[in-house]
Amino acid sequence: MAFPESFIQDLKMRNSITDVVSSYVSLKRRGRNMIGLCPFHGEKTPSFNIYTEDEHFYCFGCGAGGDVITFIMKIENLDYTDAVKFLAQRAGMDIPENSYDNSMSRLRTRVLEANREAARYYYKTLISPAGREGLDYFHSRMLSDRTIRHFGLGFADDDWSSLTNHLKSLGFSENELVSANLAVRRRSGNGVFDRFTNRVMFPIIDLRGNVIAFGGRIMTDQKPKYLNTSDTPVFKKSANLFSLNNAKNAGTRTLLLCEGYMDVIAVNQAGFANAVATLGTALTAEQATLIKRYADEVVICYDADEAGQKATARAIPILRGAGLLVRVLSIPNGKDPDEYIKSQGADGPEAFRAIIEKSGNDVDYRLQKLRADYNLQTSDGRVGYLEAASRLVAGISSAIEQDVYASKLCREFGLDKSAFMAQVEKHGKKLSREQYKKQQRKIQTDLSGRGDRLDPDRAKKPRSSSAEEALLAHLLSHPDSADYIKSRVQPEQFQNTLMRRYYSYFLQRTEQGLDPMTNVSADFTDDERNKIYKIISKYSGVASTKRALDEYINVIHEESERPDRGDISKMTPEQLNERLERIRKAKK
Ligand code: UTP
Ligand code: MN
Repeated sequence: MAFPESFIQDLKMRNSITDVVSSYVSLKRRGRNMIGLCPFHGEKTPSFNIYTEDEHFYCFGCGAGGDVITFIMKIENLDYTDAVKFLAQRAGMDIPENSYDNSMSRLRTRVLEANREAARYYYKTLISPAGREGLDYFHSRMLSDRTIRHFGLGFADDDWSSLTNHLKSLGFSENELVSANLAVRRRSGNGVFDRFTNRVMFPIIDLRGNVIAFGGRIMTDQKPKYLNTSDTPVFKKSANLFSLNNAKNAGTRTLLLCEGYMDVIAVNQAGFANAVATLGTALTAEQATLIKRYADEVVICYDADEAGQKATARAIPILRGAGLLVRVLSIPNGKDPDEYIKSQGADGPEAFRAIIEKSGNDVDYRLQKLRADYNLQTSDGRVGYLEAASRLVAGISSAIEQDVYASKLCREFGLDKSAFMAQVEKHGKKLSREQYKKQQRKIQTDLSGRGDRLDPDRAKKPRSSSAEEALLAHLLSHPDSADYIKSRVQPEQFQNTLMRRYYSYFLQRTEQGLDPMTNVSADFTDDERNKIYKIISKYSGVASTKRALDEYINVIHEESERPDRGDISKMTPEQLNERLERIRKAKK
């Protein structure tokens, strides 16, 4: 275990979740709990709940949940150990010595060390004779040696064991290399081979200067063009950005959001250090939140092709949702930033600056896209456009901004503003109704567990799963009932695999006289932890009497004793009918 339990308990006591969260989120009281806009995804109606009694949070919108440590891990983008240090500092507590050497944080350190050595090795190879091909490739793409060094670019040769052998000689184990996704285990189970071969390499560096992952580009037009590190103990694609370490220190609160590694590097070489890119996935709310910590405004610099435009349309609401101002770069002649800068030769940097300065904001951009769909020479076309534009304006959350665009449009088309605003208002009401419905639907689906990959049993065995969840929630909110519960329900009687695992874990903790929840953030994955908090949140405030408890226990017994449990393929039609009838009755 990383830290002594008593220390963690003390830490949590001195950092009340309401205090900590309210320095990031504005909270309102609702009953015994607090509610606010979720900082982890964009939303306009609050679904982020703080449960003050048992000191946890849960968002019904995005499913994020946890205790105060989890909250700091997510919002400050820290790992468990650093989040604990952060809170200790906040409360003026000393960290107990020798308490970091738990196996997970040791593995994380080793993975970071392996990554650093790998980056060094790829760079050395690149500038050695063995890296000729890679260096020629970068030069052909107009990168200077200075840029190559600045980004620590490298080369993975076509030998399937060179990096692995090198890192093994430095004392890294196969297990560590596989965890870092620098090597892949052979199917036979014997030995490992390099993950990246015959590619030019782009290290991904986090805000603390750690090499957390790599992207590797093939130098021909074979597929896949880029290979990226999969998620590892130190890397989550959806929560990091390429070159944010450089952009953070660029001295501006405007970031340029590009599509790819090469764009970011070309833009940097042209003198703009404030460029970042996602890592082979569409922009996520998590990344937007991260950007918001270092910027107020984002200029989307995606490719001018159709894919780039689609990605732009998707990114706008995500960035807006994080509270960022958004502008959209329009690159002449259907190019990407890298190609555009190159096409301008020595004038590249100036030309790029000029198009950035000319870039309109997201509303201008969307109005302009919309315009292209209508023939404004005809009355019908103008009506159609204004109607669609009023819907767009209705979607803007700031009233001032709405007014600016309404005035602009009315001036241009000689329209009466009150008529236009009436239309905007009508659409606005409909939009918020739709949004509300959508949110409710999502909560419904989430609660029913349909499409839940973490917990597939939830949908297959709803009755036993519900009872098991309720039992867990009761156990966690009434630790004093642990002995009773344990005497009546064995883990084997749980039908839901995931719930059974939680149950065994919590029972074991209570048997050892430990608080069941103290170490959840360290002992479970993010998704598993979210799920636990979801269950507790769902039953929070539901009166949990002894009678209710016995009812859950009865259901668990019944379900575990059912002879037809599971395999419907082996049932006779009569059995199947009887079963369906029973389900129908149970639903009523
Ligand atoms: P692009 O195909 O636009 O590549 O993909 P690029 O960045 O312009 O690279 P060059 O100029 O062709 O060398 C944009 C980004 O999408 C991700 C990478 O992050 C890439 O930079 N991507 C693309 C992948 O992860 N895998 C792929 O196979 C392709
Ligand atoms: Mn490109």
